[in-house]
Amino acid sequence: MDTEALRERLRGTPALAGPLAAFDPREAAPEPGPLFADWLTAALDDGVPEPHVMTLSTADAAGRPSSRVLMLRGFELDAGAFDFVFASDAASRKGHELTANPYAALNWYWPQHGRQIRVGGTVVALDRAAARRDFLGRSEPARIAGFTGLMSAELPSAEGSVSDAYTAYEQGRARAREIVAADPRAVPEGHTVYVLRADEAEFFQGDATADRFHRRLRYVREGDRWIRRMLWP
Ligand SMILES: Cc1cc2nc3c(=O)[nH]c(=O)nc-3n(C[C@H](O)[C@H](O)[C@H](O)COP(=O)(O)O)c2cc1C
Repeated sequence: MDTEALRERLRGTPALAGPLAAFDPREAAPEPGPLFADWLTAALDDGVPEPHVMTLSTADAAGRPSSRVLMLRGFELDAGAFDFVFASDAASRKGHELTANPYAALNWYWPQHGRQIRVGGTVVALDRAAARRDFLGRSEPARIAGFTGLMSAELPSAEGSVSDAYTAYEQGRARAREIVAADPRAVPEGHTVYVLRADEAEFFQGDATADRFHRRLRYVREGDRWIRRMLWP
């Protein structure tokens, strides 16, 4: 493995190359919702790939963090809300971590615009009715995937054999197809819709010019209002 060549390629790979989007923090609204909506709209309009894919970070009871990417399935930005909706299985690693420690962070990076958004807050799990609505709104292949096996659990295998595990995976898929064919309205027990109620947010706008005049605007919720501060980049 030629790691030196790989390092060389990394050093030669630009970031925040531009042209990037414009942002004047002096014109941002006093609360973060309009800015999130503006930046997401621009990402969608300009064809930024998969702008709804975000990183969710959680931590276990001991504070050990873990992260993974998820789909943003909805949000509420009106009437003071700054809520982000995602769905997963409560028995997954993230599900266990959220039960032990209901705080999490979300992060988006939209490279074509040089924009990063991070939010953090408390996560609540919605009721079974919300889980059913979310799951039954999915395509059949997505529902089959939801029944394939217990998310984040290890597949059975003799002495860690990956080919055993792969066979178990194929069997799990076949079982999942049967479950969904027998009952198209079946919903996995652990399927859960979560809402992250953000109480902090930060908007980072990269600058591609030689000045590297990056801008960071942070919002923190205090009671029912938001405080805005610029941060040194
Ligand atoms: C583009 C993309 C979108 C994903 N969306 C979701 C999602 O919406 N919900 C989910 O539970 N996992 C989603 N996953 C899988 C997660 O990244 C992760 O593998 C899974 O949730 C298990 O994470 P955990 O073991 O940390 O709980 C997605 C993966 C990718 C690559």
